[in-house]
Amino acid sequence: MLIQIPKVLSADEIEHFRQQLKLANWDDGRHSAGYLSRRVKDNAQLPDRDPVAESLGEIILASLDRNALFTSAALPLKIVPPLFNRYEVTQTYGPHIDGAIRPVTGTPCRVRTDLSATLFLSDPAEYDGGELMIQDTYGERSIKLSAGDMVLYPGTSVHRVSPVTRGVRLASFFWIQSMVRDLAHRTTLFQLDNAIQSIARDVPGHTGLVELAGVYHNLLRDWGDT
Ligand code: NI
Repeated sequence: MLIQIPKVLSADEIEHFRQQLKLANWDDGRHSAGYLSRRVKDNAQLPDRDPVAESLGEIILASLDRNALFTSAALPLKIVPPLFNRYEVTQTYGPHIDGAIRPVTGTPCRVRTDLSATLFLSDPAEYDGGELMIQDTYGERSIKLSAGDMVLYPGTSVHRVSPVTRGVRLASFFWIQSMVRDLAHRTTLFQLDNAIQSIARDVPGHTGLVELAGVYHNLLRDWGDT
């Protein structure tokens, strides 16, 4: 299940991010890649615990905390502090899978990467190439969103970033451990929540709503961990 979360950041926030990232202390992305990924990864990345990454990451997390669509789709338990990458012309990240367990640098905390998130920070008109290509059961999906929009996809997916052929692609990326580990269960809860929301909109006060909300919470109680 691929889910688009529009407008995680406002135009003013995007501008602030881009000013900060211009001056940031970029590192070779290979330094943070695992043994297999290192061979296919060619980008720049802000180091873990970088102060710019930490302050921008907090803005993203605060926005997601208020985002009903993100909460419904991800049912987040823990989120890795957001990281940032930059691809210039010819840079790319070949097919890879993200590590299953992500330690949070400087803390004893580990996050199981149930969901991956990419938040686009460059406008699609500014660069060519640089699509996020995600393999799912329908084949490969090509994702290139407006600055400020985010895609959520299962951490189990093989994915890549196609080579940038013009301009610069800036993005933030991070992982989420969900309260609901199983993708099928999480998808069912998301669909049920969407159905409840749409009935509540169209037929407010429908007597079945309380019962449906009860089913939602009973499933969440059964399938969720805290
Ligand atoms: Ni990846």
